[in-house]
Amino acid sequence: MRVLVVGGGGREHAIVDACRRAGHEVLCTPGNPGIAAQARVIACSPEAEALADLAVQEGADVVIVGPEVYLAAGVVDACRARGVPAFGPTRAAARLEGDKAWSKAFMLRHGIPTAAHRSFDVLAEALAYAAAQPLPLVVKDAGLRAGKGVTIARSRAEAEAALRDIFTQPGAQAVLEEFMTGQEVSILALTDGERYALLPPSQDHKTIFEGDTGPMTGGMGVICPFPLTASDLERICRETVEPALRGMRAEGHPFTGVLYVGLMLTPSGPKVVEFNARFGDPEAEAVLPLLASDLAQHALDAARGRLDPSSVRFHEGASAVVILAAPGYPGEAQQGLPLHLPAPQPGEMIYHAGTAWQGTQLVSRGGRVLAVTATAPTLNAALARAYALADRVEFPGAQLRRDLGARIGVRPEVTPV
Ligand code: GLY
Repeated sequence: MRVLVVGGGGREHAIVDACRRAGHEVLCTPGNPGIAAQARVIACSPEAEALADLAVQEGADVVIVGPEVYLAAGVVDACRARGVPAFGPTRAAARLEGDKAWSKAFMLRHGIPTAAHRSFDVLAEALAYAAAQPLPLVVKDAGLRAGKGVTIARSRAEAEAALRDIFTQPGAQAVLEEFMTGQEVSILALTDGERYALLPPSQDHKTIFEGDTGPMTGGMGVICPFPLTASDLERICRETVEPALRGMRAEGHPFTGVLYVGLMLTPSGPKVVEFNARFGDPEAEAVLPLLASDLAQHALDAARGRLDPSSVRFHEGASAVVILAAPGYPGEAQQGLPLHLPAPQPGEMIYHAGTAWQGTQLVSRGGRVLAVTATAPTLNAALARAYALADRVEFPGAQLRRDLGARIGVRPEVTPV
């Protein structure tokens, strides 16, 4: 099959890698230096119509769209209009992620458990409401902010600053939410709108500093699988995944692609933190190396409305992703830092998230730069391998979290097998 992958980060590198492993020819736009080693990278305008034209010109059998911005811009709609199967939600269905105020209202309409919240489009009203809420208070930008639109405000001043920042943008909307406690887990489901297959549950680490402190990032590292019992998973599907898919169908926007349920396992049960409309990043870099079946075939089947969940299979074992971020991230990240990468061994992978060539030198370009991934029979061993590999990367001033897995008591140790 000829697969066109849209995007150029670590998630798309993991998607390209999974399609190559299954033996497909892969094209990617805009791609990145890591992707270019595995796929034909093509320059193209990021407009939905131009990307759909590219898919037609290149004879793509299926298009897999990575980032939410392309989904929100209607790439899937444009591909479908040209008869090209595309894996991902339509623009209307991508609203589940792209408009957090709408998404919260959708959860209420369909009885999906989530944090108590109020949405505001007037700053003064949001400030007045925030002033009367218990702390910490979750302040969310209702629009897309690359994972950085959320502040856990622990003081009134922090809540006010976050709200003022959101309302600097025209047409802004803010969502104020009760703070939930518990373990956070990412549930990803491949779906054709009706049938779905769960990917192994994973846990991202969203703040920049260890101990879950500091500002929010797009994600600093992932462990997979996150331990959940079969009955936990059954409840999560019954209370969140299934009503979401049913609700989207009932509202006339069947959701095809990856439904990402960001969950908090609270003392009163699982509650949705957010829905996303695509593979998580860096969750994809942890989950896809464990996929034993053919991602491109699943994408094509889902796009055609014929996903066979029983065909989606995984290897035994675990994986860990350590993100190496540039100094300054998630604020202004230093750019152009020289990178020297070791050669990964089988079961290891360095996915490029924000890199570029400067002449013959690979350099950083972006905040999250590399997603260093390892698989192993156990989570402890996967973490140990991923950290050992990360330590062999030469990247001056790189930021990384050394406490991945600590929340669930897993430590990076080599366990005898
Ligand atoms: N890892 C968080 C996200 O993809 O939104």
